[in-house]
Amino acid sequence: MAQQVRGVVAHSKGKAVSVETITVPDPGPGEAVVKVQACGVCHTDLHYREGGINDEFPFLLGHEAAGLVESVGEGVTDVRPGDFVILNWRAVDGTCRACRRGEPWYCFSTHNAAEPMTLESGQALSPALGIGAFAEKTLVHAGQCTKVNPAARPEVAGLLGCGVMAGIGAAINTGGVGRGDSIAVIGCGGVGNAAVAGAKLAGATTIIAVDIDPRKLQWAREFGATHTVNGAEVDVVEAVRELTGGNGADVVVDAVGRPETFRQAFYARDLAGTAVLVGVPTPDMTFELPLIDVFGRGGSTKSSWYGDCLPERDFPMLIDLHLQGRLPLEKFVSETIALDDVEEAFHKMERGEVLRSVVVL
Ligand SMILES: NC(=O)c1ccc[n+]([C@@H]2O[C@H](COP(=O)([O-])OP(=O)(O)OC[C@H]3O[C@@H](n4cnc5c(N)ncnc54)[C@H](O)[C@@H]3O)[C@@H](O)[C@H]2O)c1
Ligand SMILES: [Zn+2]
Ligand SMILES: [Zn+2]
Repeated sequence: MAQQVRGVVAHSKGKAVSVETITVPDPGPGEAVVKVQACGVCHTDLHYREGGINDEFPFLLGHEAAGLVESVGEGVTDVRPGDFVILNWRAVDGTCRACRRGEPWYCFSTHNAAEPMTLESGQALSPALGIGAFAEKTLVHAGQCTKVNPAARPEVAGLLGCGVMAGIGAAINTGGVGRGDSIAVIGCGGVGNAAVAGAKLAGATTIIAVDIDPRKLQWAREFGATHTVNGAEVDVVEAVRELTGGNGADVVVDAVGRPETFRQAFYARDLAGTAVLVGVPTPDMTFELPLIDVFGRGGSTKSSWYGDCLPERDFPMLIDLHLQGRLPLEKFVSETIALDDVEEAFHKMERGEVLRSVVVL
């Protein structure tokens, strides 16, 4: 039987979100209903509310979550009721052209639940990133449920479901940062500081954190930054070059996603280095470069979708590293809040007061 629960809905562009009664259908074939235990507030939720992703309002926000599988539909064998799972927003189909050529992290046809969750009026909701987890329960494709060690706390584990995985993956998977490498990370919110933590985990020896907010730089130190650069005070490209023997970093991650920060990422790389764009730009942004610099500086610019992760491979491994004390995921949790506090959490994010506010249910 379909269930009615509370969820956080964005009705129109730029307007404050509200908590509404939503209807969650029973899981269809291949689907699961998950009782959400915790869901982090990611900047992408704010992008949705601002109309920066698309205009398919109303949105059911929230997509960085962990919880317990409540029920599963026909044919679901990988997860069972009671399993502790992190929700992922790229459930690989295994059959598209990316999957077939052995690059499933690029999967071009990821799975989501087929039937929509709805408002009391019957209007269909667009769940953020196909999840919609600022809600007591949510309907997802069973492939979006990744089982991890239940010893991890939900408010910590859920963060791997988006921002923290995107950041760690941007450094390690997309950027390929490894032992002895240098990396600069521009924008040290939840995503950028996860890139810092990922670079430390991978053995990078020079980790340069760049932000315009001193508080973020202080936190970046705690995650393993060896140097910090305040982009509001100094020229970022020159500063990164100075800190890397005049050369630039092997990898530069842009975790802001604006033309000016991507330009910094492009030029703060060493020759043949890699610039990774993990911050999400809005559709109005454009970017121009002298083509001779694209050629002359060599290397590559890459986008990082979800940190090029494979949830089934990466979530359990990162949770294990966390439980062993090697990945301080708990430091990303600035505060735990209730469903009714999401709008205020957006303002705290805009004011730079938090790395992650996490809704606990
Ligand atoms: N690619 C993905 O799969 C993926 C996943 C999650 C989030 N994102 C995106 O990553 C970005 C960051 O998300 P977040 O949750 O960490 O946001 P956040 O708001 O917590 O962090 C953004 C940080 O950038 C800093 N900043 C802003 N302008 C800057 C500038 N000009 N120079 C240096 N620093 C600057 C801010 O001070 C802040 O610390 C967003 O665009 C979000 O949509 C992408
Ligand atoms: Zn695929
Ligand atoms: Zn996110």
